[in-house]
Amino acid sequence: MPAQPQVFIANRSVTVTVNPAFSLLNNYLMQNIPIQTLCGGKGACGRCRFRVIEGAPHLSPVRPAEIARLGETRIAEGWRLSCQSHALRDLTIELPGLHEEFGP
Ligand code: FES
Repeated sequence: MPAQPQVFIANRSVTVTVNPAFSLLNNYLMQNIPIQTLCGGKGACGRCRFRVIEGAPHLSPVRPAEIARLGETRIAEGWRLSCQSHALRDLTIELPGLHEEFGP
């Protein structure tokens, strides 16, 4: 069995071993990694967003819900939604602060 992907959350200095079968959000919730979610993983609130620092091709393809919520500009800057993304191989990311708001 291949090694499970490791997600390094650079701005928290935490490495999370994830199961690619589940979204990143579900992996974080199952492992008690603090992350914002208001919509429960429906791709609607944008609170679970993260920015990829390294390994963008190691993520599942961008979904329409991510483009709708984040917009093309943020996607181009490396932003994704944890509830809509699966890590297929190792990644380095950063998460917004737990109380950071998300504008339109
Ligand atoms: S949890 Fe709301 S957009 Fe991901």
